[in-house]
Amino acid sequence: MSFAQWARVVSRDTNRSLAGSSLYVPQDASDIAAQAQQWGMRLAADEVGADFTYDAVLAGDAEAATGAVLPAHASHFTDKEASAPLPQMSGAEAIDHARMRMPVTRKLIAELAADGALTGVRFAISIVLEPKTAVFLEELAAAGAVVGIYCDGESTDPRVIEELEKRGIEVSAQRAWSAERRRTEALKLLDDIQPDILIDDGASFARLLMRERPQMAANLIGVAEETTSGVRAFAAMDRDRALTYPVIAVNDSALKTNFDNAHGTGETCVTTMLDILGSDAFAGASVAVVGYGPVGAGFARRIRALGAKVTICDIDPVACLRAVFDGFETADLASVAGHVDMVTSATGVRHTVSLETMRRMRERAILGVIGGISNELALDDITGFARANAAVRDLDVPGGSTVRLLSDGDGVNYTAGNGNPIDIMDLSFAVQTMAIGYLLKHRGRLEKRLMTLDSSADEHIARVALSTRGQEVTATHTVPYDWRLSRFEDEIASENSGEKEHRA
Ligand SMILES: NC(=O)c1ccc[n+]([C@@H]2O[C@H](COP(=O)([O-])OP(=O)(O)OC[C@H]3O[C@@H](n4cnc5c(N)ncnc54)[C@H](O)[C@@H]3O)[C@@H](O)[C@H]2O)c1
Repeated sequence: MSFAQWARVVSRDTNRSLAGSSLYVPQDASDIAAQAQQWGMRLAADEVGADFTYDAVLAGDAEAATGAVLPAHASHFTDKEASAPLPQMSGAEAIDHARMRMPVTRKLIAELAADGALTGVRFAISIVLEPKTAVFLEELAAAGAVVGIYCDGESTDPRVIEELEKRGIEVSAQRAWSAERRRTEALKLLDDIQPDILIDDGASFARLLMRERPQMAANLIGVAEETTSGVRAFAAMDRDRALTYPVIAVNDSALKTNFDNAHGTGETCVTTMLDILGSDAFAGASVAVVGYGPVGAGFARRIRALGAKVTICDIDPVACLRAVFDGFETADLASVAGHVDMVTSATGVRHTVSLETMRRMRERAILGVIGGISNELALDDITGFARANAAVRDLDVPGGSTVRLLSDGDGVNYTAGNGNPIDIMDLSFAVQTMAIGYLLKHRGRLEKRLMTLDSSADEHIARVALSTRGQEVTATHTVPYDWRLSRFEDEIASENSGEKEHRA
């Protein structure tokens, strides 16, 4: 069994992140150790205490390595646990499985709840609805908040809808709804909840609120935005002074961008593609990754580790140079689209892959998105294009070849996979919680602008996250920074003190 097969199984069955976790690899498997390190794993000296062990892989023991889900109480993924496959989890079990692995979010919500800050606060939320999201919603509700969620059907886990409704949380999400019905249902949720705070993922919910319910929008305490494409929309509104509420760019906190975007998305997009296309899909494949932000870079590094020949296509020369220094080749998408086995967009920008680019693609080449805004691929330029709700389907490009389209052009990891890993989303929801705390603390006093949390929020989350992993921060022993003290003064001061010692 290869590293790719193992990563796919771990991702699918436990939804835990390999990045940041430790792996025990026997000494004679240096190639596997190298791949694991490229995925952001630490190598453990022995089996005891490792988050993951690799013995089953080395032994080629597929059954052991495909053993399903961890029991909810387990803290380590070992071969023994892996060899006892569990049945598909129910909604309640999946939520409990996630809750056990989200200590940071739970602690931060508990801190807010201890002050009574969440009591009676009304939240309308529009975000990918998975077990991890359910934990976030439930913790807010348990702390006294009123919570309702709207989500596109494709980004929703049906087990979770059922379970949340049982637990009294209003959920608005159905796969079969038409575009008009989705809009109506989103508005209904807003009318039902009458939100104080909106949590958004892509800025569409907040823009709908502003357009259709301007008074409700003007009364908001504020909005917390989850992702890059949403922040981009709010930044444009901010430039035009069009915002009627304060917005916190949750995405731009270091604890979000450098973890969720950089590790979680790349990792789970790769493992979901391995699930769809086969475990050896990347070995020897030529892949154009379009967009070299944190998401594109995280994806590119991982598929390179699995043997892909990667070309980066970005419109920003700085991003391209970064890619070159990371060891990748860069090229214009138009010149490589016809020569690669796969084109993947990681930009979050509409029409990144134009119809003209699709026309250049090879017969049976793969086309997919790991960013995730609507029409990141210009599918709306294909007359008669309709969703197939399939992880992979043939797409006849007018005037071009038949390519294989992933997830109807939506973000692969949250439509065809389990979304970002639990431990990564624990950090993202922790940043959301800090944003909520900030909005509540400064209620009524914030400018109607786009803003980010300061680094103290990241530091607080990081300390909690490190302590839950048994890791430490170096204690500072330095005196407060004094800008007056340059190297010259410092050297003179050292000499003087040396002389004093000498005289003494
Ligand atoms: N699927 C998920 O779980 C998930 C998680 C986090 C972020 N995202 C989404 O992924 C996308 C990328 O996120 P990011 O943080 O890396 O964004 P980013 O803005 O930091 O990087 C995007 C890169 O794409 C480049 N780009 C823009 N337009 C381009 C074009 N037409 N052709 C080539 N390159 C182009 C930009 O220059 C930039 O370097 C966003 O839409 C974000 O919302 C998805």
